[in-house]
Amino acid sequence: MNTDALKQQAGEYAADFVKSGMIVGLGSGSTAIFATRRIARSLQSGELVNIRGVPTSLATEAAANELGIPLTTLARHPRVDITIDGADEVDPDFNLIKGGGGAHLREKIVAQASERLVIVADDSKLVEQLGATWAIPVEVIPFGWESQAAYLESLGAAPTLRMDGDAPFTTDGGNRILDADFGSIADPAALARQLESRAGIVEHGLFIGMARDVVVAGAGGVRHLRQG
Ligand code: A5P
Repeated sequence: MNTDALKQQAGEYAADFVKSGMIVGLGSGSTAIFATRRIARSLQSGELVNIRGVPTSLATEAAANELGIPLTTLARHPRVDITIDGADEVDPDFNLIKGGGGAHLREKIVAQASERLVIVADDSKLVEQLGATWAIPVEVIPFGWESQAAYLESLGAAPTLRMDGDAPFTTDGGNRILDADFGSIADPAALARQLESRAGIVEHGLFIGMARDVVVAGAGGVRHLRQG
């Protein structure tokens, strides 16, 4: 089975956690979109009613508008019932690396406002230690970003400025991304604190202790992993 089919299975499985009346965080990326599409279909069929979505990126906002999902904001609904989002890596404690698409700032804001964060992924995303296959996306403000690159190097990373063709990639917040390759990370919570202590770093892609559920699809089918 190809990876897209696995992403679809995971996304659609998790969409069934959404119940009528909920405020739903709509994740970003190629896996979460399958959950968003399934929610839209359930709204069209009348299986779900009175749903409001909170998109985690401009791309997801555009997709949700196209699919006819009514949207709201954190200003109107500061508490989100459930968010379904993807991840680039998931460790055995459900710590995550996110931000492959550069949306991790809004994703983290919505996740922290959520009662329940459900991660959807194909089984290639499961790792023993974060950093094994993926660099940590670090969103930095354009002013003095070179200084943040040097800081990441001082922590042991090899940072690369993310590009979009010939120009630096720009996030929804107008910032840049440094993809910081740390290799396998022994203590992701400690690294998260070090990244948070630096001015100019807006947000990093480590999501520590935030996910409660992981829905993972592999050759053997879909598994719903729960914390605790
Ligand atoms: C978006 O910036 C990311 O955090 C995505 O949620 C993550 O990269 C997973 O994306 P895919 O589902 O496309 O692999």
